[in-house]
Amino acid sequence: MTLCRGHQSGLVNADDSASQATASRHNPGSADMQAAGHARHSLIYRVSGLSKTYGEGRSVVHALRGVDLDIPQGEIVVLLGPSGSGKSTLLNIIGGLDRPSQGSVHFHDRNLSDMTDAQLTRYRREHIGFVFQFYNLMPSLTARENVELVTEIARDPMDPDEALAMVGLEARVDHFPSQLSGGEQQRVAIARAVAKQPAVLFCDEPTGALDSKTGRAVLQVLQEVNESLGTTVLIVTHAASQAAMADRVIHFSDGGVREIILNADRSSPDQIEW
Ligand SMILES: Nc1ncnc2c1ncn2[C@@H]1O[C@H](COP(=O)(O)OP(=O)(O)O)[C@@H](O)[C@H]1O
Ligand SMILES: [Mg+2]
Repeated sequence: MTLCRGHQSGLVNADDSASQATASRHNPGSADMQAAGHARHSLIYRVSGLSKTYGEGRSVVHALRGVDLDIPQGEIVVLLGPSGSGKSTLLNIIGGLDRPSQGSVHFHDRNLSDMTDAQLTRYRREHIGFVFQFYNLMPSLTARENVELVTEIARDPMDPDEALAMVGLEARVDHFPSQLSGGEQQRVAIARAVAKQPAVLFCDEPTGALDSKTGRAVLQVLQEVNESLGTTVLIVTHAASQAAMADRVIHFSDGGVREIILNADRSSPDQIEW
């Protein structure tokens, strides 16, 4: 893994988000744009001054404290930080599941804060796939039926069997979740998220409940989705080793971005130490 360090070669400090935005917007030939191993695209997200507090008065929790972040389209981004640092809160706001207390999230040129609840629901349905730590499959439905739940309401869905074949489960389409291993259930969840052909896949601790071999296989599937469909993949994790598979690693702590590291040469998940 090759890391680009220093601002000129790609490292962006949390305090330096204005220059980060400038580099991405005005200087497409910069190291920032070239660092990842494949063609650079335009920004899919611009996060500005994002704050989130829960509760009030003496019990107030500052989950996010002014986050500025640009996410280019087509990358694998790993959001790395300790438990309680605000990773899920950030993911849920960018994914349109929650709203910020302050600041804005632009998806291309649309400000999520300006959307009504109905528009936010449509944004999630049309553009976002979610993968969570505990799969969230319907136990009474087969793998194919779980995927069909999504494809039936999607605008331009894949065939459910094709989505399940993509994650290597073509022989398991008629199995119920209880007949599948944890890793297989997570792959069904990925197939379900991918089948609507979202622009972005948000994965919150997707390997958190899996052993190393199964976890690597799940990360491999996420990489394949990124490579074959061009889906932007954002993985939240507290496991530092997973940073190696990312184009961009966002180090997060105490509700803020500490450091952004670009991998010029991202690794395959099967090379990851667990
Ligand atoms: N719904 C909520 N109500 C109150 N506090 C919350 C809520 N959700 C998260 N928090 C708090 O916000 C902080 C960040 O949480 P979270 O985003 O889940 O962190 P992470 O995903 O990095 O573990 C934590 O202190 C957590 O307890
Ligand atoms: Mg979390």
